[in-house]
Amino acid sequence: MDKMILNDGNQIPVVGFGVFMIPNNGPTYDAVLQALKAGYRHIDTAAAYFNEEDVGRAVKDSGIPREDIFITSKLWLQDYGYEQAKIGIARSLRKLDLGYIDLYLIHQPYGDVTGAWKAMEEAKEAGQIKSIGVSNMTPKIWNQYVPQFKTKPAVNQVECNPFCQQRELRQILDKDDVKLECYYPLGHGNADLLGHPLVTSLAQKYNKDAGQILLRFETQDGLIVLPKSTNPQRIQGNIQIFDFQLTEQEMEAMRALDTGKTTHDPEAEGVEDMLRNAFVIED
Ligand code: A2P
Repeated sequence: MDKMILNDGNQIPVVGFGVFMIPNNGPTYDAVLQALKAGYRHIDTAAAYFNEEDVGRAVKDSGIPREDIFITSKLWLQDYGYEQAKIGIARSLRKLDLGYIDLYLIHQPYGDVTGAWKAMEEAKEAGQIKSIGVSNMTPKIWNQYVPQFKTKPAVNQVECNPFCQQRELRQILDKDDVKLECYYPLGHGNADLLGHPLVTSLAQKYNKDAGQILLRFETQDGLIVLPKSTNPQRIQGNIQIFDFQLTEQEMEAMRALDTGKTTHDPEAEGVEDMLRNAFVIED
């Protein structure tokens, strides 16, 4: 599995297995074990996915050394502010029970993000977390919060695929060597993307499926991808993207699919309240 070097010197596998919406107490455990068997070495969870326990159990039972697996989790909105974030970080560490977390993110960019970030910086200094980052930060939100941070985020995890390539954001992130992680790298079920004639013709040429073409394009373009699948064949297939390369002409053609629009707009009115009311994390 190819890796990238983050701006703090740590390495991250460029394809991660996402477990959003997979239930705890069995299904996440099974899915993560299956992903690890298939060759994934990067698992992306969150406090608000309610399945950190299963992720931790699967990693421990996999027989793979802890240091060979990269674990991401995320702090939920209810745990923002400096003091409360310490409680949230401790809760994630306890539920995962893996000694440390490789990457911990500010999941949503609202409220006392700066206080929460300070607690994350301290947890990084203490070795509880190896790298820290943010998520769902548009250029405007990035410029609102990040100039106040002492430590630059290692990543910003946002919606990104050929239909929304985040070009403006990527210019801002590139200045500080911040890596962009793509959620919805396959368009989250958008048939127009997976069925786009350019994508299907490349799939035919390289004897890959449409999803593999999207993931190849994204990783070849310098992005980290978190494809989601519950289908065993596609879980396996989505990491088989390192045995071929798109030509520069094909990369340019894929770049031309950008519409500049995301489906989730973190700046939209009501989004913050909707998210705040969506989940309550319990001990
Ligand atoms: P499935 O779980 O049946 O594989 P995203 O990661 O952008 O949110 O997209 C997830 C969606 O893409 C799921 O509906 C998933 O369905 C589907 N999917 C995952 N891998 C592939 C693939 N290689 N080709 C086509 N669709 C895929």
